[in-house]
Amino acid sequence: MAGETPDSAAAQYDRHVVRSYAAPALTLVRGQGSHVWDAAGRRYLDFATGIAVNALGHSHPVWVRRVQEQAARLTHVSNLYRNEGQGALAAALARRCGPGRALFCNSGAEANEALLKLARLHGVRKSGQEGACHVVVVAEKAFHGRTFGGMSATPQEKIQKGFRPLLTGFTAAPLNDLAAWDRVIDARTTAGVLIETIQGEGGVNPASQEFLRGVERICRERNVLFMIDEIQCGVGRTGRFFAYERTGIRPDAIAMAKGLGGGFPIGAIWIAPPHDNLFTAGSHGTTFGGGALASAAALAVLEVIEQEGLLDKVTRQSAPWHERLRGLVRLRPDLVAEVRGEGYMVGVALKCDPVPVCVALREAGLLTAPAGGVVVRMLPPLTASAQELEESVEVMARVLGDWKPA
Ligand SMILES: Cc1ncc(COP(=O)(O)O)c(C=O)c1O
Repeated sequence: MAGETPDSAAAQYDRHVVRSYAAPALTLVRGQGSHVWDAAGRRYLDFATGIAVNALGHSHPVWVRRVQEQAARLTHVSNLYRNEGQGALAAALARRCGPGRALFCNSGAEANEALLKLARLHGVRKSGQEGACHVVVVAEKAFHGRTFGGMSATPQEKIQKGFRPLLTGFTAAPLNDLAAWDRVIDARTTAGVLIETIQGEGGVNPASQEFLRGVERICRERNVLFMIDEIQCGVGRTGRFFAYERTGIRPDAIAMAKGLGGGFPIGAIWIAPPHDNLFTAGSHGTTFGGGALASAAALAVLEVIEQEGLLDKVTRQSAPWHERLRGLVRLRPDLVAEVRGEGYMVGVALKCDPVPVCVALREAGLLTAPAGGVVVRMLPPLTASAQELEESVEVMARVLGDWKPA
């Protein structure tokens, strides 16, 4: 039996789980709405949401019912056969993305792998030969995942160290520096660009509207795939279904995952025409992608977002929340540099290491996630109430107010 007691769960983990993560401080055993409970029965306000995954909070009744019903009826048949949910999910995404097609997988990194393969296929179509046009331009401080493709597209020493040689064909340029992107996007050799609308792991750094529009124009001029990574910032997190919608751009392809399944693993890319026919039968695949259970979970997320008006709710509630959070800069100007982000994806940028601050917040009952070496990241569930947002500010004010820099 897994984890019979809190102590045995920790001991078993310590002894038998590969140490690719720092040893977790908590064993979480239950979640409900915006809260989780640890093995000792202590309650936390969960504004880490499994790193932007639990879009509907924990155990939303509609999500639980849909997943239970599907699990009892049909869980998996592979992509050799159709399941009822996958097409319905693609159709639901079409209503958000416009014309095109979806390709399903199981995680964010896999979604980006599919984008990178799409860029290669585009390069072959564009140049008429393999290998001549395969470069993908990415942003400095980007994070696109831990697979070889995702890691190679992630220009961060701490991610790439120890795994070289990486995949070739990536060029990094500074986010929001359009002139730099204009210089590195080459009509002959560049197959695609890949940009997070708001960098998550890099420290909650939004791409500006001007920048995204400018890169889109350059991509159109040079026949380069314009690919957007919405894995962390998408699926309602900013108060729009996709964060890029605020900018008016039309990506050629979009990667999504995390919040899409509301806690059940699923990833997807959306490909706009004419690129949606680049993958052909046999050119890509995954056993689990778009399975019956994962599709039912994602359909439940999309249904609840619509039925509960969560996009409007996030938009409405985030402005006063951000304003209250900005009060932290006035409270501790020596400690807090700024508050940035959109909707329910917020980074409180500190003038010190955010990790001990996140630990103190956890001890005060608030779960957050550090990012980019300077940021306390707050990612509430889209269902979070105004009162819960206010509670998060109060905990932040208490912890930061008493903070004594090391
Ligand atoms: C923007 C972005 N892309 C890709 C990934 C990788 O997703 P996954 O961890 O599901 O492989 C992440 C994960 O944090 C992410 O934030």
